[in-house]
Amino acid sequence: MTATVLPLLPSQLPLTLYLHFPWCVRKCPYCDFNSHALNNTLLPEREYIDALLIDLAHTASMAKTLRPLRSIFIGGGTPNLFSAAAMDRLLNGVARYFTLPSDIEITMEANPGAGETQRFVEYRDIGVNRLSLGAQSLDDGLLKTLGRIHTANEAQQAIGAALKIFPRVNLDFMFALPGQTMVMLEDALREAGAFGAPHLSFYQLTLEPHTSFYNEPPEHLSDADTAAAMQERVEEALVRAGYERYEVSAYAKPDAKCAHNLNYWQFGDYLGIGAGAHGKVSFFDDEGKVVRVERTIKEPHPRHYLESAKTSPEDLMIESRIVERDELAFEFMLNALRLKDGVPRAFFSGRTGVPLAEIETMMQNAVVRGLLDPDDNVFRATLLGWRFLNDAMQCFLPDEK
Ligand SMILES: C[S@@+](CC[C@H](N)C(=O)[O-])C[C@H]1O[C@@H](n2cnc3c(N)ncnc32)[C@H](O)[C@@H]1O
Ligand code: SF4
Repeated sequence: MTATVLPLLPSQLPLTLYLHFPWCVRKCPYCDFNSHALNNTLLPEREYIDALLIDLAHTASMAKTLRPLRSIFIGGGTPNLFSAAAMDRLLNGVARYFTLPSDIEITMEANPGAGETQRFVEYRDIGVNRLSLGAQSLDDGLLKTLGRIHTANEAQQAIGAALKIFPRVNLDFMFALPGQTMVMLEDALREAGAFGAPHLSFYQLTLEPHTSFYNEPPEHLSDADTAAAMQERVEEALVRAGYERYEVSAYAKPDAKCAHNLNYWQFGDYLGIGAGAHGKVSFFDDEGKVVRVERTIKEPHPRHYLESAKTSPEDLMIESRIVERDELAFEFMLNALRLKDGVPRAFFSGRTGVPLAEIETMMQNAVVRGLLDPDDNVFRATLLGWRFLNDAMQCFLPDEK
């Protein structure tokens, strides 16, 4: 592996930080995230925070200079298995290497059933100002099918606590669940909307390769038409409840969009720290023009990650790949077109280094097919394009020129 030297990064391109926590009490049968069941083993809390700090120091030491962080996202896995004292040690480490603006958004993911109210207060007191809680469903039968460790009542308790304690809260739900009827979905939408949380995410269940659900699909899965009808109902009900559907699965009250995820969708830069964390870093010439974009991946297996941190931190990054010039348009659109309002066209050349003229034919093709808005100022999918998002994105594949 060759060492990566991060460049002097122009301040216009936002930089965020993702910190990954790869353990859960139990592995959910639908989940393909880098999360590992603890299986009653002891959480290596101190050791993992030590490793994250080494990863952080190593990543920061490769940088000539770094921009202030726009946001921090503590994700998992189940980060709330870790104590607030452990998180505090980590965030203090982050503050040693990066400038943290006073209005920085610091989100933490949390699972009901893994330590709540008291810990929530402590997390808030160390600087976490947005909690993303994985409720998934408020139906005990569906929660059981999903293999969740919590009941509907425990999810409700955790939601109540989160809303009292944090200024910003996101609630994750899934729909098109095995055995979920339209009537059950209506109940879920009514209950989810009634909490009044600033942000909701409603994900359509997908069967991801290498998961238990993929290998042995559960009974009573929704067919594609039912899932599409459910998606429409989710949007209608949540818009009526005062939310804006600003991304495929994300719904926000005014001024409550997730700053961290917006940066992904707007093709900003991010550093990934922790087992399996992904990063994206841009390199610039002296005039501040992007000359290349690199994607990085850290060692995914927690045990190997812990070992490398101790013995050979240079091995923590298992991949550092330059995104080929002709892949940049697709990668950009894969993110940008997920946003209902799209992104300014100027971001394209500013953030990929590729002149707009180079993708003119692709743009025209997408416009002619009715998938891309012809607006000269933004890249935005049309309603048709949003409905057939893969088709819209595929217009920007290299061989579609
Ligand atoms: C990083 S994950 C995990 C967060 C947290 N550990 C939890 O389970 O609550 C973020 C969200 O992705 C969604 N998700 C995970 N796997 C999914 C799948 N196969 N299909 C649809 N949504 C999924 C869930 O709503 C989950 O809360
Ligand atoms: S709790 Fe979340 S991260 Fe952990 S296995 Fe379940 S869905 Fe995946």
